[in-house]
Amino acid sequence: MTERIVLAYSGGLDTSVAIGWIGEATGAEVIAVAVDVGQGGESLEDIRQRALGCGAVEAYVADARDEFANEYAMPTLKANALYQGHYPLVSAISRPVIVKHLVKAAREFGATTVAHGCTGKGNDQVRFEVGIQTLGPDLKCIAPVRDLALTRDKAIVYAESHNLPIETTKKNPYSIDQNVWGRAVETGYLEDIWNAPTKDIYDYTATPEFSPAPDEVIISFAQGVPVAIDGVKVTPLQAIQELNRRAGAQGVGRIDVVEDRLVGIKSREIYEAPGAMALMTAHKHLEDITIEREQARFKATVGQRWAELVYDGQWFSPLKRSLDAFIEDTQQHVNGDIRMTMHGGQAIVNGRRSETSLYDFDLATYDTGDTFDQSQAKGFIELWGMSSKVASQRDQRVSGL
Ligand code: ARG
Repeated sequence: MTERIVLAYSGGLDTSVAIGWIGEATGAEVIAVAVDVGQGGESLEDIRQRALGCGAVEAYVADARDEFANEYAMPTLKANALYQGHYPLVSAISRPVIVKHLVKAAREFGATTVAHGCTGKGNDQVRFEVGIQTLGPDLKCIAPVRDLALTRDKAIVYAESHNLPIETTKKNPYSIDQNVWGRAVETGYLEDIWNAPTKDIYDYTATPEFSPAPDEVIISFAQGVPVAIDGVKVTPLQAIQELNRRAGAQGVGRIDVVEDRLVGIKSREIYEAPGAMALMTAHKHLEDITIEREQARFKATVGQRWAELVYDGQWFSPLKRSLDAFIEDTQQHVNGDIRMTMHGGQAIVNGRRSETSLYDFDLATYDTGDTFDQSQAKGFIELWGMSSKVASQRDQRVSGL
């Protein structure tokens, strides 16, 4: 039987050419797999037809938007995960959901190998292949751009000489990856890290300098997940979409960073994640009133480690799973409403209310009605400073010798 390879297919030039390129290089039949994670653009049906037109023997298409929002974006929100304090893991969380579908398709169509369109310099090759290794240890991986010398120039010549149903003229100087959680743009002019991004780079966000009238929004959460916006019930996917639109119109969620790739390179990336950043801001402020202090402090370090693991392609690792369990436990009381004004590129919280709040007005107030017994503070401070005081006395004694 002819060998079969499933290919992660975007519908773009490189993966369209990869179908025939892989076939010629390996003699295998290629099955194209397209997964909708909210990247917008063409319909899955158009993508399926193009894959078949480019020589795929089968095309597997999946609308994974809700799956992605529920099982990948929501854990990122609960973790308040920002890699290097900036990046809400837009591309990093889309790879594992694509991997799941690639493995599923490989099983359905009897494929022995999984192919993807990544280069040999980035994080995504690692995320795909570590994911495949974990979910389908018997499957092999191949990357035509990296392993079969499929360069951009050769792809254009190939598409033209084979009359593939794909445009080869449209020249975009940027490398773009996008989904409902955000958008990532790199290369070209941005590789000079002193160059400011130009307007044409952005698509999910409007220029914050010219933002429309301030937009006040109330986001309601249950156990760390958004369940209503301005009182209207929403699914996680709808919450992200609605805030992409409203926060995006205010220029919220633009990020310009030089980040540390897993492969040891520092690289410049521009992100836009209006919905993700608006939700994360609101979620964090709700945690501030509903999570106990020590749990909250520890959770911040857990969230940072979680972000590193996910960035580094360890979505399916045991440690990531254990951290998920911790994070999930912290979300039990993260219920309530956050009021936030979005304007001029910023989302600023100005009100919060929760049935499960730890904020105690009677303890916090400086007005009459104060129930806090201030006389207890004196003894507490004495003991709190005791160990430093003892050490300091020792230091003075020793240095005085
Ligand atoms: N640097 C980001 C990451 O590794 C995004 C990569 C997405 N690719 C792109 N073509 N911009 O998660």
